[in-house]
Amino acid sequence: MPHITVKPFETSSITLGKYGEKTEVLFKAEDNFSKDELIAVYHGNENFLLQLKKNPESWLLKYDKVTRPLKVNLVKQAIGDIAKHLGLETLQSNITIHETKVRLSSAYEKRIEDFTNINFPFESLAIEVGFGSGKHLLYQAQKNPEMLFIGIEIHTPSAAQVLKQIEILGLKNVWVVNYDARLLLEMMPSNSCHKIFVHFPVPWDKKPQRRVISSAFLEESMRVLQLDGRLELRTDSPKYFWYSLETFLGEGVAKTNVEIRKNEALEVTSKYEARWLRQEKDIYDVYVTSLEVSETRILDFDFSFKEDIVYKKEILDKLTYKPQLFDGFFIHFERLFKIADEAILIKLAFGSFDRPEHKYIYLDKQRAYYFNANPVKTLTNYKTHLKIMEYLNV
Ligand SMILES: C[S@@+](CC[C@H](N)C(=O)[O-])C[C@H]1O[C@@H](n2cnc3c(N)ncnc32)[C@H](O)[C@@H]1O
Repeated sequence: MPHITVKPFETSSITLGKYGEKTEVLFKAEDNFSKDELIAVYHGNENFLLQLKKNPESWLLKYDKVTRPLKVNLVKQAIGDIAKHLGLETLQSNITIHETKVRLSSAYEKRIEDFTNINFPFESLAIEVGFGSGKHLLYQAQKNPEMLFIGIEIHTPSAAQVLKQIEILGLKNVWVVNYDARLLLEMMPSNSCHKIFVHFPVPWDKKPQRRVISSAFLEESMRVLQLDGRLELRTDSPKYFWYSLETFLGEGVAKTNVEIRKNEALEVTSKYEARWLRQEKDIYDVYVTSLEVSETRILDFDFSFKEDIVYKKEILDKLTYKPQLFDGFFIHFERLFKIADEAILIKLAFGSFDRPEHKYIYLDKQRAYYFNANPVKTLTNYKTHLKIMEYLNV
C-alpha cells in the first residue's frame, strides 16, 4: 500500500489549503499519545486520511486503512503532491503510478453507501462473496449476460484486479464492492437474489468469529434470496463443511432445503480450487435453498449527530479506551487526535462483535460527524450510534 519514507521535518509547514492542482489538505490531527499525525485530504472527489508515523530516524507518510479509497492512485497522488509541495526529502517510495496496472473501470465499482437506495439495472441478481481472483465471478457473468453479478471482496488488490478484468473483457453485468460481505448483505433488498456463491471461504479455525458463514449470515442470505433462490457453499475444509452444515441445520433457521454434494465438478475451477485438486483433496458443496418469502427491509437510519453534540472539554475527561460492551454491540474508543484547541478526531471500533465498524468521529465547537463516511446502515450500527451520541453528550 502506498507510502513514502522521509527525513523528519517541521510539521508546522503542513498548512491547510491546496497542494498542487488536485490535492487539498482539510485539517491535520496529532495523536494524543504517540505524536504521530493524521492529514485529512480531499483529492479526486474523495476525502481520506494519510498517516504520518514518526519513527526515530525517518518518518513514514502512508495511507490510512479505515478511510482509504479503492483507487489507490488517489492516495499515491495525494502523498506525491504533499511531499513535493513541502519539499520533503524522500528516502524510499512506492508511489509511482502504473497507469496500465491500476486503471479502474469505475462504472462497475460500487460503494457500500450506494446500496441504500439502489436500482438494479437487471431483473435477476447473483452475489459472490470473497471472489479472490474472480475466475468464477467472471465466468458466470460471461455465461449469463442477462443477470447482474455482484462480487464482494474484502481484499482491495483482488477487487482492483477484477475491475480491470471487467474492463478488458468488456463485461456490462458485474459490479465489484470492496467491503466485508457480511455487512453488504444487510444492505441488500429482501427477496432480490437468485444465487449467493461462497466459494472456499477462509476457514479461520483459530478465529471462528471471522468466518463468513454464521447464523446471522445465513439469516441475511435467506432474507436476500428470492423464493427458491440458493446459497452455494463450496469448501475443501472438512471442519468448515461440518461447521456450516451445523449452522444451516441449526435451531430457528427459516424454512429451507439443504443439500450436500462431495467432489462435484464445476464448469470453472478457481486457482485456489485447482491447488486442492492437484493435491487430490475432497471438495464439499452445501446448497441451501430459501423456501420462504421474506419481509421487506427499509433502511432509513439517520447517522447524523444531534446539534448539542459538539466538542466540549468534558468529553476528553470522560473518554475511556477500554471496550464497552452492551447488549449485542460494543463501543471501543481507540485513539484521540487533537486538531486544534477545540477540535478533535476520535478513532473508534463499534457495532456487532463479529462485524465491527472502524470509523473516525470529527468534533469541533459547531458540529460532529463521521469522517469520511457514515457507518453502514444496519440496525446494530444504528443502535450503537445512539449509544455513542449518549456517551458524547456531556
Ligand atoms: C480462500 S479465498 C477464495 C477465493 C475464491 N472464492 C476462490 O475460490 O478462489 C477467500 C477469499 O475471501 C475473501 N474474504 C474473506 N472474508 C471476507 C469477507 N468478510 N467479505 C468479503 N470477502 C472476504 C478473501 O479476501 C479471499 O479473497
